[in-house]
Amino acid sequence: MERWRDPHWVDKMTIRLNYSCMMSDFIGGNRGITRREIDDLVPRTQEIAANIETKKNSGELGFYQLPHDLKAVDTVLQMASSLRGRYDDFVILGVGGSALGGIALFRSLCHPLHNLLPKSCRGETPRVFFLDNIDPNTVKSVLDFINPEKTIINVISKSGTTAEIMSQFLIIRQLLGERLGKESVKNHIVVTTGSKKSDLKTIAEEEGYPLLPIPENVGGRFSVLSPVSLFPAAILGIDILELLAGARHMDERCKSRQIWENPAYLIGALHYLADVNKGSSITVMMPYSDALTQVANWFRQLWAESLGKAQTVSGKTVHVGQTPVIALGVTDQHSQLQLYQEGPFNKIITFLLVGNSGETVPIPTRPGKEDNISYLEGHNLEELMKIEAQATQVALAQAGRINMSLTLPELNPFSIGQLLFLLEVQTVFTSGLYNINPLNQPGVEASKQYVYGMMGRNGFKDKIKEIEEWQNRGGQYIL
Ligand code: PA5
Repeated sequence: MERWRDPHWVDKMTIRLNYSCMMSDFIGGNRGITRREIDDLVPRTQEIAANIETKKNSGELGFYQLPHDLKAVDTVLQMASSLRGRYDDFVILGVGGSALGGIALFRSLCHPLHNLLPKSCRGETPRVFFLDNIDPNTVKSVLDFINPEKTIINVISKSGTTAEIMSQFLIIRQLLGERLGKESVKNHIVVTTGSKKSDLKTIAEEEGYPLLPIPENVGGRFSVLSPVSLFPAAILGIDILELLAGARHMDERCKSRQIWENPAYLIGALHYLADVNKGSSITVMMPYSDALTQVANWFRQLWAESLGKAQTVSGKTVHVGQTPVIALGVTDQHSQLQLYQEGPFNKIITFLLVGNSGETVPIPTRPGKEDNISYLEGHNLEELMKIEAQATQVALAQAGRINMSLTLPELNPFSIGQLLFLLEVQTVFTSGLYNINPLNQPGVEASKQYVYGMMGRNGFKDKIKEIEEWQNRGGQYIL
């Protein structure tokens, strides 16, 4: 029986939220949030919850269905098993929502040195390279490194038009064609894309590449539990059934309309109140775990693109959105903490903690030696990391710096599934408090259009003139 079917195990693996250091009656002074402020949001919470349920049932919030879509999982598992053991290297082409979820799963659930492990330790899983940027130095280095004959490429683009991904795709397709012959290319490319017609889809169909679907009602940054990230995860040997079970477990916990019971609603409310009532316009996610840094990076996009908006759903200009920042414990205690502890009162900090990290690494004793580092002896690194996290939380709270923690009992697919789903629901709920649409990103269009114009795409040539005028006017300020 899968362990996630055992209620005792599930209980042990449930993520816990500690928000005491957010509350004014706990941290004192006027920096924290009062129970009254949260209670005042109860009527709005009821409305937002009802609205979320309507959109969930109508399919508008498609990500809610993903943990339950066992058909999609089956397709992904079949595709992954048909490719297993055949390739040494796995290259993923995707950007933004098409890449960040996969990177988060890889970094949180695979060996920290996965790519450096010898094949005998990696088993059937290939080395992996996420090309989520078009920096020619990186792209060239990866292409020089891989052996096309032993490489599988996953091209991920919901729209099938994104300039960055299409450029990489054209480059790699040509390389494979030249090195392996045109007919063989289809054995080395899997395309993950939306159902709408696009150039990527047309080429994939014409050239016979296997296709994985992205549901049309799931946007990039909410697609981590769709084939977008499930396929790379399955290729890397991550138990995606357990991941989705974790997400379903969190879905259950987040069904309550009661703000004090629903972890996603409560965290969303605390962020909103911290922003609008306390001036905390920055939210810092600070994992005490190297493995969770890319989860924080994934969340950075989710929070920024979903909540950074000019207008409410009714068209009122508001310019809202907290700026998400990533810090890493303990590394950034020696880089950022001074600012968080003594700088402006404009941050809310969420610690991501891990109960049992799996490794302890004892600090050796030196019998008969007494000096200023002797106190470390007999302890271990896991203990030191936990103590440093606690010390940082208390020090920040005592300085009136609001913070909370999410503790994952272990790093496993079940806990990561819970965390990702929690953060998605939290984001959607918070968008309701700001009364904005979390699913669009109108602000990224303008620069895309200039790129199209300057790269010579038909229909966008007038953009070149605009850019030239702008650059000419700015010329006087160049030193
Ligand atoms: O979250 C989003 O919607 C974006 O970050 C997209 O995922 C990103 O722009 C890539 O788009 P596409 O998958 O259509 O290539």
